[in-house]
Amino acid sequence: MKAISTALFALTLTISSATAQEMFKASDSSDENLSALMMTCYVCHNPRVKSHDDIIAPPLVAVKYRYKSQYSEKEAFVDAITSFIMNPTAETALMRGPVRRFGPMPQMPMDEGMVKKIVAYIYDNEIEEPEWFSEHFKEQHGEDWQGQ
Ligand code: HEC
Repeated sequence: MKAISTALFALTLTISSATAQEMFKASDSSDENLSALMMTCYVCHNPRVKSHDDIIAPPLVAVKYRYKSQYSEKEAFVDAITSFIMNPTAETALMRGPVRRFGPMPQMPMDEGMVKKIVAYIYDNEIEEPEWFSEHFKEQHGEDWQGQ
């Protein structure tokens, strides 16, 4: 839990900085949405963490896979994840394993419009996968990872 609190604290500082505020307002391009994703979500959902033992939150590629299996349409996917992020609870979370391991995702001081753009970016684009992900997926699901 300590690593998550530290990450959340760093994130709060980042989001409240003037540069980030400007960027979030302006972000309508794919590059800007990717920067916002990297600055906010990757603080905890970092795809470069070397092993599954070292993560402090599930990789976003796993989150995307889980939500897409339930919400295949973009609008439903974006709405479901956005409403979770604006009010995360263990009861509404879909990912039982990560909730057990890390507790529910902490609530973040984020603008809903910004969150929607980030989540739409995740849906539309191939996001970075940890190098151990396909092996981990196979262990968990007993089948090969087919990609995003
Ligand atoms: C302070 C750390 C932290 C930050 C920052 C963070 N997350 Fe999370 N997130 C977590 C943890 C821990 C979990 C696993 C527990 C859970 O599933 O609720 C999680 C789980 C999730 C889930 C799955 C929820 C479910 O149904 O179980 C989604 C979706 C998600 N994060 C999206 C995001 C997005 C998008 C961002 C960036 C806008 C983000 N998170 C930023 C820590 C964080």
